[in-house]
Amino acid sequence: MLIKNLELTNFRNYSSCRFEYSDGVNVVSGGNAQGKTNSAEAIFFLCTGYSPRAVREKQVIKHGESFAKIKGVASSNYGDVSVSIDFFVDKNKIIKVNEVPVGKIGELLGNINSVFFNPGELKLIQEAPEDRRRFLDVALSQISRGYFYALQTYKKILAQRNNLLKNEDRALIFDTLPVWDQSLARAGARIIFERNEYIKMLSPFAGFCHEEVTGGGENLTVKGDYKYEGTEDDIYSQFLSALTERTEKDIETGYTTVGPHRDDLKIKVNGIDVRAYGSQGQQRTASIALKLAETEIFREKFGEYPVLILDDAMSELDKKRRTRLIDYVKKMQTIITCTEPECVPNYQNYNNIEVENGNIL
Ligand SMILES: Nc1ncnc2c1ncn2[C@@H]1O[C@H](COP(=O)(O)OP(=O)(O)OP(=O)(O)O)[C@@H](O)[C@H]1O
Ligand SMILES: [Mg+2]
Repeated sequence: MLIKNLELTNFRNYSSCRFEYSDGVNVVSGGNAQGKTNSAEAIFFLCTGYSPRAVREKQVIKHGESFAKIKGVASSNYGDVSVSIDFFVDKNKIIKVNEVPVGKIGELLGNINSVFFNPGELKLIQEAPEDRRRFLDVALSQISRGYFYALQTYKKILAQRNNLLKNEDRALIFDTLPVWDQSLARAGARIIFERNEYIKMLSPFAGFCHEEVTGGGENLTVKGDYKYEGTEDDIYSQFLSALTERTEKDIETGYTTVGPHRDDLKIKVNGIDVRAYGSQGQQRTASIALKLAETEIFREKFGEYPVLILDDAMSELDKKRRTRLIDYVKKMQTIITCTEPECVPNYQNYNNIEVENGNIL
């Protein structure tokens, strides 16, 4: 997968700007607050239909303007694809794939695949289980539309089930719950099944990528919860029984206490929980290794690498790790942002783009 160009109109601090990217490493440099992350955000938007910054969408429209537009052309094994998103102050955004509006985000996913790292992604290591689930959800939604739709259904049913659990009419709860439980277990089984498969692939790749970046100095392992295993149907039965067993407890607590919305990943470096004990550089290396592993899974599934976006990944990594990281990623299209091009070892060999105040120099 290769993103060839990106056009930004009234997008954040850009009035009108066009980026041309090459295969391999692209170094986007510039001082603080000049627009590096904004350009990376725009690419991720084209891939997934939302911002990695978790903002209100209209915030991307340049101050004082009434609309914004992002447009990108990518090429993959399936040919060229053009994706655009128009944002308006007074109405919802319009997403188009090859100039044809798409009705649902699900139809956008998979057209341009990317893996995105920025310092915020350290939450993956440092913070709550929710961030690790999000990591799985973002990757799996791009890989499998079925997963994305199951996730949407699951969230909807979960909210309805939780509402019901708070109802004071116990007879009503016991009458209605079995129906909700079956639907929740059906959507949940799909999610758990795909996550299980994904984590099984992720762990060896993450270990391998981590070794490549650290020069074999440290060993990274990733483990899922694996509470339910087997085929999707097996998981359905196991999860449904767990829901039934927990009915009393769920009513007592007023929410659903089992299911994929409670899962977590255990990430260890040299056998030690990197979240609790890792240094900043170790945590950053581990989260980058997980992202690199994600690119390998994409390649395994689709026969080609996604676009890798490394926003501000270099700081806190020592020179050896930076060199090894670049050596690893140059086989795929990688867009690296950093304040000085020198952060990227041998930057002269790559496509360099310098941004200043929403313009390319
Ligand atoms: N809607 C908007 N309209 C105008 N400017 C905006 C808008 N949203 C963000 N900006 C501005 O864009 C500028 C560049 O932001 P960006 O995050 O891309 O910087 P950066 O180059 O990545 O900097 P850093 O090195 O600090 O990470 C910031 O000054 C920010 O205030
Ligand atoms: Mg930035």
